[in-house]
Amino acid sequence: MSEKKRRYFIRTFGCQMNESDSERISGMLDQTGAVKAERPEDADLIIVNTCAVREKSEEKLFSYLGRLAQLKKKRTLRIAVVGCVAQLRGWELLGKKGAVDFVLGPDNTAELLSLVKEDAAEKHVSTSWSEEWHETSPGLIQRDSPVSAYVTVMEGCDNFCAYCIVPYTRGREKFRPLRSILEEVRDLARKGYLEVQLLGQNVNSYRDPASGRPFTELLREVAAVEGIEWIRFLTSHPKNFRPEIAEAVAGLRKVCRQLHLPLQSGSNAVLKRMKRGYTKEEYLDIISGLRSLMPEISLSTDIIVGFPGETEPDFEESVEVLRQVRFSSIFSFRYSPRPLTAASRLEDSVPKEVKQRRLAEIQHLQKTIQLEDHSRLVGKTMKVLCLGRGQKTPQLFTGRNEGNQVVNFRSPDDPTGRLVDVHITAFGPYSLLGEKTA
Ligand code: 5AD
Ligand code: SF4
Repeated sequence: MSEKKRRYFIRTFGCQMNESDSERISGMLDQTGAVKAERPEDADLIIVNTCAVREKSEEKLFSYLGRLAQLKKKRTLRIAVVGCVAQLRGWELLGKKGAVDFVLGPDNTAELLSLVKEDAAEKHVSTSWSEEWHETSPGLIQRDSPVSAYVTVMEGCDNFCAYCIVPYTRGREKFRPLRSILEEVRDLARKGYLEVQLLGQNVNSYRDPASGRPFTELLREVAAVEGIEWIRFLTSHPKNFRPEIAEAVAGLRKVCRQLHLPLQSGSNAVLKRMKRGYTKEEYLDIISGLRSLMPEISLSTDIIVGFPGETEPDFEESVEVLRQVRFSSIFSFRYSPRPLTAASRLEDSVPKEVKQRRLAEIQHLQKTIQLEDHSRLVGKTMKVLCLGRGQKTPQLFTGRNEGNQVVNFRSPDDPTGRLVDVHITAFGPYSLLGEKTA
């Protein structure tokens, strides 16, 4: 009789970095002969990959752990918490609803392999830092998409923005060797991937640890890989955004004319308290530099409302920048005090209702901007990388254009994994609708 295979389920909270880490964890577990389950009910090992960036993300985790605790009452089940909350809370998590068995920080995830192989019954917590870049074999990553791939180029952050917990959960900046990044990209090209998204908390500060070659050189090398058609990267920091990066984006055909450049606030007083290291004017100069080189570039940003001491005029300055720049999308958040951060020592002075009202106001403004800008695209034909069928609308295919906008479209054949021309016929605030023409 064959031995029953272990089945694992992964739940991922948070950013693309976490999604990418989960793909690596899946690949690692597949090597042990385990198989991925589609539902937690079908698994005997559940990995929860966590985000600590806002209090709400931690709350979501705790309520999820509550559900898993119920599941655990009915059957044998091991639960591992990995990622940022694992690093932040460590042993504390073992007490949470009694559900958790293993706690592994971002630098300790590889230990999951031996815990699974040995069928460890003991509780285990590991949150030590490593100064070195951890190499994983790219061939072992089990990616969710067969079309577009995340490629991590750096980990951690040295910036210590006053509100941000990342430097405490992901540690200091560590750069991945250029050679290893290129190996992964070449492997992806051989497998038929058309798009790579280079990931890191602050990709602009990238330097190859061996040669010191900067981010622009990395972009050039990746662009030289045959088979890869589109290259995106995130996140950029305005403080490290040098004109050479704009020139590389403009000069390299494969690098998408699209940039995520977090503003956080439009008020210089708030930016200073946030320790962002740039002014509103410097940010706007970067934007005009980019637009003079590439008038069609699509820009997105992150905004925090209600940072300690943010006055109504401060907030109005953020609104004004949104009006002026007309981002193609924004991620907006209410400030949430996080442990260990400099801002957590300031009084969280903006009342919750005020934060909520400010958030609603910028989201409403952004929705209006997107509707207006999308309406101008009707009748145009654009290149779209088809990522597959729509999840909610399987009769439509879905993909992204060069500007990273979502485009849903009809097609007589299945163009998944291809760059196709789509004629735009309609729009909503968050996506475009069209027909494939070629
Ligand atoms: N509160 C609210 N938003 C935050 N972000 C990071 N830390 C906080 C916080 N404490 C936002 C920033 C960052 C994005 C990933 O999350 O806008 O760019
Ligand atoms: Fe956080 Fe600032 Fe680093 Fe971004 S740059 S991860 S906001 S500390």
